[in-house]
Amino acid sequence: MSNHSRTVSLLSVIALCIINITLTFFLLQPRTCDPSEIPEELKYEAVTTWDVESQPEDNKSTQCLPPHTYLNPSMNLINSSHSRENILNLDIRLGRYDNRRLFKTFDTVLIGTRFAELSSTSLVCLATQTSLEKLHSLVQVAHHWTGSISVALYSAGDEEFEALQKYIVFLRKCYTPVLERINFSLAMPRSKLPSKQPRSFEPPMDFGCSRPEATLNDLVNKISKEHTNWRVRNVYPQNHMRNLARKNCQTDWVFLTDIDIIPSLGLANSINLFLRDTERCDKCAYVIPTYEIDTRVRFPGNKTELVRLARKGLARPFHWKVFIHNQYATNFTRWVLDVAPESKNYKNIITGKAYISHNVTDFEFLYEPFYIAKDIVPPHDERFMGYGYTRNTQVYEMFIAGYQFKVLSPVYTIHWGLQTRKSRSVWRERQNIINRRQFEQFKKEIYTKYMHNTLGLINTFY
Ligand SMILES: *[C@@H]1O[C@H](CO)[C@@H](O)[C@H](O)[C@H]1NC(C)=O
Ligand SMILES: *[C@@H]1O[C@H](CO)[C@@H](O)[C@H](O)[C@H]1NC(C)=O
Ligand SMILES: *[C@@H]1O[C@H](CO)[C@@H](O)[C@H](O)[C@H]1NC(C)=O
Ligand SMILES: *[C@@H]1O[C@H](CO)[C@@H](O)[C@H](O)[C@H]1NC(C)=O
Ligand SMILES: *[C@@H]1O[C@H](CO)[C@@H](O)[C@H](O)[C@H]1NC(C)=O
Ligand SMILES: *[C@@H]1O[C@H](CO)[C@@H](O)[C@H](O)[C@H]1NC(C)=O
Repeated sequence: MSNHSRTVSLLSVIALCIINITLTFFLLQPRTCDPSEIPEELKYEAVTTWDVESQPEDNKSTQCLPPHTYLNPSMNLINSSHSRENILNLDIRLGRYDNRRLFKTFDTVLIGTRFAELSSTSLVCLATQTSLEKLHSLVQVAHHWTGSISVALYSAGDEEFEALQKYIVFLRKCYTPVLERINFSLAMPRSKLPSKQPRSFEPPMDFGCSRPEATLNDLVNKISKEHTNWRVRNVYPQNHMRNLARKNCQTDWVFLTDIDIIPSLGLANSINLFLRDTERCDKCAYVIPTYEIDTRVRFPGNKTELVRLARKGLARPFHWKVFIHNQYATNFTRWVLDVAPESKNYKNIITGKAYISHNVTDFEFLYEPFYIAKDIVPPHDERFMGYGYTRNTQVYEMFIAGYQFKVLSPVYTIHWGLQTRKSRSVWRERQNIINRRQFEQFKKEIYTKYMHNTLGLINTFY
């Protein structure tokens, strides 16, 4: 116990130092802003230091930040006649159980005010899932993805459920894109259902709308240590969450991500155009490459900028150091070629038009790209819970089932923070080991189901 709290305080000190350094770094950054560059969207700082109120005050810079995209001025004061719309629409005595009766799920507990409209005008729905601690990432995701969004939320017990409800009210009051674009669904563990039905809450407005992450941390820090320890010991059902998010999308095409994967600016629009112009192939998965970037830099507004950061060591393919197989088959060496002015696809770099850069030719087991596909792809196997073998087993099944993976450019997604092996926790490794055992069974089933042994994977890898 005391060991644990010492680690926590040490981590807090380190975190504060990093925030300080980061803030200093930002103060030294020149502020440039060309409205034509980023139509209708905001250019963000790292989520960790994202701060609406600290946006530059000189007129030149603020002009390119359309206020409606980040603040909801009419809703800065609590309007009690509106607050009813923020109460989660569910009865905790009801809900749908999973196959092993471990979790209960609830569809559409909150409806985006424009979700239905967006589902009909946009061809792709972004499906994502999260527990409370990471929910602040949704602010940036919702500002970047202009289509419909289906978010599966996880909540265990009363304390967490209450904090979650407060934070949702905060998000919907402060950020128009969250209010408009997102339908939420919810999952709860059977062993820790809340005892109180959803209620109306006042949003925590200590920081105004300017600091989504600090507001969340405030709420999370009030949760008892007892509950936090329970959470660490119990798995987060990633694949249940993914299926829940996917199946609540109303469009045929789904882009499934994790909550901390931020789409590039204009991604939804350029995918719409791409799918309209391309022969839509049912057994294709369009891979959107993911990079992890240093939290000190700004969100790269275009691919040229991303590649520039990568060359300076401030960005690299997601999980490159932690687990290279994660995206190796995407072939980043190839993906970056079109940023050269002499490349025949350079015009797409300039216009931002999405196109197929290349096919994935060297698929390997453990590949787990984020992709856009028709949501008739195999489900995520819910026997895998927690970390490890959750996404890559689904991708593996797609491959065995004959799906083709095609890498798109110049679109991409970003994960904040360069990841190193050291930052993975013990409990995460433990879940990985359990899932690895489960994988042995899964492998046999997939092999039997599709009756062929592509790449001789069964023998080669295990
Ligand atoms: C910003 O614009 C307002 C009105 O548009 C003007 O009164 C003010 O002087 C400007 N401030 C600066 C720093 O240019
Ligand atoms: C609250 O919302 C209602 C309905 O939109 C509106 O008529 C009323 O004026 C609002 N009240 C305040 C205090 O903003
Ligand atoms: C999401 O909300 C819209 C209403 O805005 C609704 O038409 C749609 O059916 C909802 N999605 C689901 C899965 O219920
Ligand atoms: C990409 O972004 C950089 C930095 O913001 C900018 O200088 C450049 O003009 C942009 N390139 C294109 C093709 O939009
Ligand atoms: C990618 O695969 C498709 C078949 O699905 C093929 O028609 C196409 O030529 C391939 N593209 C490249 C660049 O190899
Ligand atoms: C990446 O593409 C190059 C050709 O541009 C090819 O030589 C190489 O084998 C590919 N690597 C992978 C991992 O697909």
